[in-house]
Amino acid sequence: TAPSQDDLKRIAAHRAVDLVESGMVLGLGTGSTAVHALDRIGDLLRRGVLHDIVGIPTSKKTEAHALSVGIPLSDLDRHPAVDLSIDGADEVDPHLNLVKGRGGSLLREKMIEGASKRFVVIVDESKMVDRLGGSGLAVPVEIIPFGWSYTLGRLKMLFTGECGFDARLRMTGGEKKEPFLTDNSNYIIDLYFENGITRDLDEVSDEILRLTGVVEHGMFLGLASSVIIAGRDGVTVNNK
Ligand code: A5P
Repeated sequence: TAPSQDDLKRIAAHRAVDLVESGMVLGLGTGSTAVHALDRIGDLLRRGVLHDIVGIPTSKKTEAHALSVGIPLSDLDRHPAVDLSIDGADEVDPHLNLVKGRGGSLLREKMIEGASKRFVVIVDESKMVDRLGGSGLAVPVEIIPFGWSYTLGRLKMLFTGECGFDARLRMTGGEKKEPFLTDNSNYIIDLYFENGITRDLDEVSDEILRLTGVVEHGMFLGLASSVIIAGRDGVTVNNK
């Protein structure tokens, strides 16, 4: 039988964990793909195949899961030199630029993955796009709650005239709709592009980051060292 999407996520995750060596400081990613890496690392620690691992979790969710599978944890202040980070992504373009943050953990992810000697991205083939923002999924921007509507307006102004562009405050599901809160007690504004981002990504990144009130965005440009892509025809590894 053909592997399910979750099987593919697990296959990519296990390939990345093959790169983990005893004694490493690891950045631990967030999401349904990264969770397979956590489980695998926990398993290898339990069996004594790996030892002296320290994990730096990229979210509260990952922190809880890592503890539940027995991975010893630390933080960036105590371990500023991260050997290897493993994490999923929402989109990967042909230059290994990423969109992350569908789960809302982009800020801690970018801090930890940016501090890593090596950052390995694990995805199933559905995440590959020609252009960031091109899959119809959002490009998230973390902003401070103060003046959020003003910041939303400023973000919209950056993309005036962009065909089919939209920007919306992320809400939590459930009956009583409330703004989604990140682990840092911030809000997320989701940017939607009809045909992906057609302008220079570094320029777009700078323009977004220059807005006061913006904390960080979910474009990870030039950060990934390699991407492990699990597909129905096998695994492909793309290195920077
Ligand atoms: C979390 O905020 C995200 O950056 C995730 O890394 C990303 O959304 C990938 O998640 P999945 O592996 O669940 O698709």
